[in-house]
Amino acid sequence: MRPEFWHKKWESNQIGFHQPEVNPYLQRHWPDLAIPAQARVLVPLCGKSLDLLWLAGRGHRVLGVELSEKAVEDFFREQQLQPQVSEQGDFKVYRADAIELWCGDFFSLTAADVAGCTALYDRAAVIALPQAMRERYAAHLQGLLPTCRGLLVTLDYDQSQMAGPPFSVDDAEVQRLLGSTWRVEMLEEQDVLGDSWKFVQAGVTRLEERVYRICGE
Ligand SMILES: C[S@@+](CC[C@H](N)C(=O)[O-])C[C@H]1O[C@@H](n2cnc3c(N)ncnc32)[C@H](O)[C@@H]1O
Repeated sequence: MRPEFWHKKWESNQIGFHQPEVNPYLQRHWPDLAIPAQARVLVPLCGKSLDLLWLAGRGHRVLGVELSEKAVEDFFREQQLQPQVSEQGDFKVYRADAIELWCGDFFSLTAADVAGCTALYDRAAVIALPQAMRERYAAHLQGLLPTCRGLLVTLDYDQSQMAGPPFSVDDAEVQRLLGSTWRVEMLEEQDVLGDSWKFVQAGVTRLEERVYRICGE
């Protein structure tokens, strides 16, 4: 999957993944993780998610990473925030208050870039990527944040019934990708097929959303 795929999605406003409200799993489960307010949270492949604001509202410093400059600029404009913009290595970094959005390729992010990040929030990031990229994503993420706590939200369906993205990432794959570095524990599983017309129309007959707690000591 090439960057152009995502740039086109943003340019043509085909962003069905974007949620008009803060993710309910985030609100339900984040407080139980007991992550200190001063923790810096990494949000890979963040889009213009309102979850960034929610995390900042809890006192966190938030570092989102997003390929699309349109997504990043839309985020700050829609939230009526005036970011300072600077260059940092391969990234253009937008900063306003506690939120920094790093515009560029997640795979170019270095451990120095995420220094101080001890928390992670992945919603629609790992499932946005095809198999080979998911392997790279998981390896890169664990290399960046060997010690962290956070949440991961996935989808699981029969991949032969619909092409991704979003891609199906079942429980066994989550454990295989992330379970060697982190403790990964399923917190919640929901049948969401009834809420997902795109999947129903494509002929998908089973769709489960799962929320995992991630913990790396
Ligand atoms: C499915 S969307 C999810 C966005 C966000 N997490 C949310 O919940 O709304 C995936 C996002 O990842 C971005 N993306 C894809 N590949 C990327 C990469 N290599 N580095 C940074 N961002 C990337 C896309 O532009 C897109 O906005």
